[in-house]
Amino acid sequence: KLKDKIILKNHIEEINNLDELEKYIKNSKECKLKNAANSTVFADGNPNSKIMLIGEAPGADEDKLGKPFVGRAGKLLDKMLSAISLNRNKVYISNVLPWRPPSNREPNSEEILQCMPFIQKHIEIVNPSILILLGGTAAKAILTTNIGITKLIGKWHKYNSLNLKKPILTRAIFHPAFLLRSPQYKKVTWQDLQEIEIEIGKYDKNN
Ligand code: URA
Repeated sequence: KLKDKIILKNHIEEINNLDELEKYIKNSKECKLKNAANSTVFADGNPNSKIMLIGEAPGADEDKLGKPFVGRAGKLLDKMLSAISLNRNKVYISNVLPWRPPSNREPNSEEILQCMPFIQKHIEIVNPSILILLGGTAAKAILTTNIGITKLIGKWHKYNSLNLKKPILTRAIFHPAFLLRSPQYKKVTWQDLQEIEIEIGKYDKNN
């Protein structure tokens, strides 16, 4: 198989494509979460998309199937995408953590910090035009802020990275798993989605 021929890079700085990054993460030993997980959940969707979504971490279903957002939250995410004429072939999806935290607990700050270089590199390689952060954990980690998700929704942010030529337009929205528990926040989330759709429309016209 072609994937077996990918060379394992020793330093994340040397990596410049997704196959190398996936192999690097699968071989990494920095984060103990990996020991308890069944899969390294890397990504799903279209790596050439200009829209990248980032969630928190795999849950039980994702850990079993090796793909992000395939459980109940994933089904709602698919509905959210279709509300703005998107689907998994039109976006690229990953998580801050590639491994499931045991019993779905929230990842702690050490685990998040250990995995940050992976998602930072992942964003750099995909280099999307629009980044959508799903929920407070992803928003805090990627935007390096302590501000809670309720204050981050409803506006555009910029994601900066040393290796990116220009900042990426970023939007944080409520996590679909949270929306399943608290459906009263769906309305405001659909407004966020509409603003994202407008931005995508502008982008499509200019390119
Ligand atoms: N929740 C997440 O944040 N990511 C997944 O992949 C699944 C559920």
